[in-house]
Amino acid sequence: MKSPIPDYLRNVLEKARPLEGGEPANYIDVLADADPSRMAVSLCTVDGSVYSVGDDEVEFSIQSISKPFVYALAIQDQGLEAVLEKVGVEPSGDAFNRLSLEAGTNRPMNPMINAGAVATHALIASPNGSVEKRVDRIVQALSRLAGRQLHVDQEVYEAELKDANRNMGIGYMLKAAGMIACDPQDAVRGYIAQCSINVNVRDLAVMAATLGNAGIHPVSGERIIPQESVRQVLSVMATCGMYNSSGEWISNVGIPAKSGVSGGIIGALPGQLGLAVFSPRLDERGNSVRGVAMCKKLSHDMGFHMMDMSQIGRASVRSWTTTIAGGSKMPHACEEQVAVFELRGAVRFAGAERLTRAIMREIRPDEKGREGRPCAVIFSFRHTYSLNDVARRLIHENIHRLAVDTNVVVIDPAGVLKLPEDDPMKPIVAVVQNEAEARDYVGGIGCKIVSTADDI
Ligand code: DON
Repeated sequence: MKSPIPDYLRNVLEKARPLEGGEPANYIDVLADADPSRMAVSLCTVDGSVYSVGDDEVEFSIQSISKPFVYALAIQDQGLEAVLEKVGVEPSGDAFNRLSLEAGTNRPMNPMINAGAVATHALIASPNGSVEKRVDRIVQALSRLAGRQLHVDQEVYEAELKDANRNMGIGYMLKAAGMIACDPQDAVRGYIAQCSINVNVRDLAVMAATLGNAGIHPVSGERIIPQESVRQVLSVMATCGMYNSSGEWISNVGIPAKSGVSGGIIGALPGQLGLAVFSPRLDERGNSVRGVAMCKKLSHDMGFHMMDMSQIGRASVRSWTTTIAGGSKMPHACEEQVAVFELRGAVRFAGAERLTRAIMREIRPDEKGREGRPCAVIFSFRHTYSLNDVARRLIHENIHRLAVDTNVVVIDPAGVLKLPEDDPMKPIVAVVQNEAEARDYVGGIGCKIVSTADDI
């Protein structure tokens, strides 16, 4: 069968093609000469399937789309605290090239406007290091994200450097405010080189999907960006990524995003995908006209808005009782009820809380106030895709409370539960691979299930 997804993407592209508004960026002559008929769109899922249509191999300079990735790199090189001393996280509502600093702290407002991006660039590698070193580190990091070697486009670099007075002004402003340690001209030169790295939409979709996949590269499976940095980067993209149209963007499209003046836009949808669009004509805020239209359509058609409540992420909990007639060498003298709890899906607090409620429903005090304990409790995590930290902690606590006076058996072939080595209950909680092993553990070899009742 032919996948319907590329056909759909072609439709997205063609619906945006008639939009003639806007102009390519005119302050860099190479960009001003860009062919405005070029258009492309690409999606990359968090498990690495890349779809793209249109001019998907045409390269263009990454420009401001480099900013979120370099911000992640600065956090890696200096730590978040040091980065926050030099660059804020407040949306500015200003144009991207505004010479502005935050009142009180003197920091640039955020890392997505030029002032913040130049200060962020200056933190790469070592604050007193050379331009070449910083640029090389950024090119290598972006190449790793794209999955291929990228290069600085010298023609774009020279063209932008020719008339970089505004960004040079930003550099001197940052130096005077004590926000950069290096020479201001060097900081701006390095920043312009970072903006001049060439990419195509497929590269950008994969790079964005790494953010959407909590920092793990969707194709290679390598951890590239620590999860806490991804949270920071996506938060800043969501609030500041589209400059002075960030509010409109997040309410309309609902995807953390970043645009660039050569006509690209990326979006990173947490847990689902990365997307990238390209078309050179820009609106008055510096965002691609057709690119914005394509992103809006994708978001509306595909339910990509991150605040969309159309699906409540429920983990499912099933629970039932089984009566087992003991077999030979029965370790636990019982021909009694065993409570089984099965947890499915990607489990966070809400799913673990549902499991907790199910346990409390089953193992509750009788009329005389005594807790009616089954002979054993089996937890099945066979269909649990993942537990986040809070879910894991809550489930560990449930197991602690039960294991004090009940046999607890855990079916966990993928090892999602991760009871720590020093957990006091570890020695008495049996971890097995499947249902048959759990049954034999509780009832002894050769035991039989006498009856099963659903929905305890
Ligand atoms: O700083 C500049 O002027 C550019 N090299 C990058 C700006 C940019 O891409 C703004 N994005 N919309």
